[in-house]
Amino acid sequence: MTELIRTRDELFSFSFSGSGPIVLVPTMGALHDGHRALLRSARSVAGPGGSVVVSIFVNPLQFGPGEDLDRYPRTLADDLFMCSAEGVDAVFAPSGAEMYPDGKPSVTVDPGPMGALYEGAFRPGFFGGVLTVVLKLFNLVRPAAAVFGEKDAQQLALVRRLVTDLDLGVEIHAVRTVRDTDGLAISSRNRYLSISERKVALVLPHALRAGCEAAASGAAAAAALAAAREVLAAEPEVTVDYLALVDPVTFAPMEGAPGAEVAAGAVPAVLAVPAVLAVAARIGANRLIDNVRIDLSGGQRCC
Ligand code: PAF
Repeated sequence: MTELIRTRDELFSFSFSGSGPIVLVPTMGALHDGHRALLRSARSVAGPGGSVVVSIFVNPLQFGPGEDLDRYPRTLADDLFMCSAEGVDAVFAPSGAEMYPDGKPSVTVDPGPMGALYEGAFRPGFFGGVLTVVLKLFNLVRPAAAVFGEKDAQQLALVRRLVTDLDLGVEIHAVRTVRDTDGLAISSRNRYLSISERKVALVLPHALRAGCEAAASGAAAAAALAAAREVLAAEPEVTVDYLALVDPVTFAPMEGAPGAEVAAGAVPAVLAVPAVLAVAARIGANRLIDNVRIDLSGGQRCC
């Protein structure tokens, strides 16, 4: 049975099994099949003797003015149902006052230079808010490991940086993006899309695939990007915030980076180092992000 925990006192007095690790899956709720994959991964990392804790908290700190904090979907009953079906031991769903008893904290996490790139440039304050709440959740739940989705690739890279730079000792596990059968990455915000907007949104995975296939057939960074850009440009209903080929660890742009052009001698010549091709775009009032990891080492394909 999944225990619903609302306060930090209840959390501290919850008796975890004790014979295995505590694994945390931080979420903002509105759980979907992408989250289900995170829960399953957490269950397997925890093992039969460990405990899986899912946090559900729509964190006001990571929403900017004019963003969708008030209308962000809140579906606790359905979320509990999924958690229970997936063998989650506890759901920690605190109120805003429980998480931030003194209001907006005056000490927060500075996400550093990576936090100012891409998502950070379009959503100022976003990564500071994310890393602050993740650090608080780690301090409250004290997990040995935590699971995050690759869908939020820059968030994942920054959480890894947080753990390394602040010596948090939490093992971070990444889970691949789950897609609908038509290729659209599953996201809590997809529910805002109208039927026609959802069709338009498919240009994102199509563009990523084009870029990825170009890279797999030997294109250098700039050409792979151009292939993706061409697909996006053919869809007038989409406004692109950014399209970038970046290092998965630092989120530095790959053009001109060592290994980013072509590896000599390989057939076909390919990007010699793993990369992430990431996109953010607006369709009507909705903003979607997506990415693919391009790793052509060892003859692997990426897409
Ligand atoms: O990815 C999310 O759902 C959120 O950014 C997170 C990590 C739960 C922090 O609020």
